[in-house]
Amino acid sequence: MCGIIGYTGKRNALPILLDGLKRLEYRGYDSAGISILNNNSLIRLRAVGQLSALEKRLNDELNKSMADGATGIAHTRWATHGSPTENNAHPHADCADKLHLVHNGIIENYQTLKSSLESAGHIFSSETDTEALAHLIEQEINNGQSLDEAVMTAVQQIKGTLGLAVVAANEPDKIVAARRSSPLLLGIGQGEYFIASDPSAIIPHTSQVIYLKDDEFAIITPAGYEIKSLSGQSVAPRTETIDWSISEITRGGYDTFMEKEIFEGPSAIANALRGRLLPDDGNVKLGGLDAAENKLRYIDKLVIVSCGTSYYAGLAGAMMIEEYAKLPVAVLHASEFRYRDIPLDKNTAVLAISQSGETADTLAAIHEAKKRGLLTLGIVNVVGSSIARETEAGVYNHAGPEISVASTKAFISQLTVLGLLTVYLGRTRTMPLAIGQRIVRELARLPDLTESILKQAHKICAIAERYNSFKNFLYIGRKYNYPTALEGALKLKEISYIHAEGYPGGELKHGPLALVTTDLPTVAIVLRDSIYEKMLSNIQEIRARQGPIIAIATENDARLSELADDIFYMPKTIEMLSPILAVIPLQLFAYEVAKLHGRDIDKPRNLAKSVTVE
Ligand code: G6P
Repeated sequence: MCGIIGYTGKRNALPILLDGLKRLEYRGYDSAGISILNNNSLIRLRAVGQLSALEKRLNDELNKSMADGATGIAHTRWATHGSPTENNAHPHADCADKLHLVHNGIIENYQTLKSSLESAGHIFSSETDTEALAHLIEQEINNGQSLDEAVMTAVQQIKGTLGLAVVAANEPDKIVAARRSSPLLLGIGQGEYFIASDPSAIIPHTSQVIYLKDDEFAIITPAGYEIKSLSGQSVAPRTETIDWSISEITRGGYDTFMEKEIFEGPSAIANALRGRLLPDDGNVKLGGLDAAENKLRYIDKLVIVSCGTSYYAGLAGAMMIEEYAKLPVAVLHASEFRYRDIPLDKNTAVLAISQSGETADTLAAIHEAKKRGLLTLGIVNVVGSSIARETEAGVYNHAGPEISVASTKAFISQLTVLGLLTVYLGRTRTMPLAIGQRIVRELARLPDLTESILKQAHKICAIAERYNSFKNFLYIGRKYNYPTALEGALKLKEISYIHAEGYPGGELKHGPLALVTTDLPTVAIVLRDSIYEKMLSNIQEIRARQGPIIAIATENDARLSELADDIFYMPKTIEMLSPILAVIPLQLFAYEVAKLHGRDIDKPRNLAKSVTVE
């Protein structure tokens, strides 16, 4: 969702900005734009649709000033206020066209600001909330403030969220950036500096970054940078090194990032486990939880807040923790949590699960939990992200960057970390040594087991070819694999645009059976576990109504061959970890069907990777 890149240095800014925009494409966008500052001239080009449309305009309309400029800002926009038109695309300008800015986030009081700016004579040319900010800064400059001061004064008047980068014609080489609740970082090169909403935009140029905190400003020129607080005080720099490599953010021979990331499943699990297993003690070491060790011992309830795929990981994690750590867990969509009046006492901890660490609803839920004085925890993939920083303690996934909008390896990694957390919480409670040892042993086997499933990917291709013309799918599972069914259906919807619904097998007779005909295939997760017989009954209910059945089954299960039309066999593991294996064929199935339909798999329509607006 909306991406920002800015550059100032000695090189031509245009190719750096374009390359940065391409690296931000995965976040989801529907228009894009670039402004280049060269001496005192400010030139902007914007286009609706894919970046290729912007590149075409650049080719057609490029002039020397734009080509040679060494400072600029650029943006990919995902429409919120106002449809995806050229006028609504960023950068936005002031009345005099002397100031351009790009903005991520939402300005909640823009209507009030816009009315008063219009009364003062400002003319708006877009339907966006962002444009109010351009006129507000212009007004402060007209009142005699410098660009830096004007940005600060304007930001003080804004209610809402922002990641912001501003350039002005009368301040050559300078970019002023600001952050409030929308991620923004400063990249430090040799005599050149970058602003980006996401490290992937600048990774080819530098690994040295400073993540801006809320209400901090960065002022950059090729000569150096300064970070200031909202009150104008200088802030001491705190440089961090990003440990992502370029190979991690390129497709590396795969057709799509999604395919690459599915095949990175085994290494995502291995990375989540590395250095954390204590097999003899039947325990795990999670250093990120040390800060909350004592509090965690005494909590008597856990609330998991998350969105999308991370929410489904939470549903499965809740079952693990309840069964083995004997701790009651509620799982809530983060967007619901904050608006419900749930009575929670101080012995409740709130756990956010988020790949990006930037999902606005999840972050807001954490803010709400903190306001209520509750212990907040995170399972987060992106190091240094807002949720990682704002929670009191947590566990990083270390799954590496996930670029495809549809989450795959992060889901598997989240389930793995939830398995680790179950052992951690369980062993400080009543979990016997032998159970801890068993779970730890099974966790250690997961990379090999997932690898063996991926080796059979061709079998899923064949199944996908047989089913790709169906218009609707039902996914069923029970207990631990009910969330897997939900996630499988979500994957198919997201990337192939085929309608799919996930259901607990036991609920079939309360509605979905009415839909079952020869036209509705069911994907059923029927493993040799505690609810095997129940699942068999459920698929018999479907069979009796001639519904085609694709089963995900445990290897050597002969009974299923009479009931299912197609079967994918997977190795056995303990029930609580089985979703980690069972989801892989479902990810592959969605992927293959979407490929057969010719979809833009990594960037499905209307969706964004990192949803930074509520
Ligand atoms: C978006 C993405 C999903 C993701 C969800 C939650 O909808 O498209 O893939 O599961 O956000 O994101 P998070 O980064 O918080 O896990």
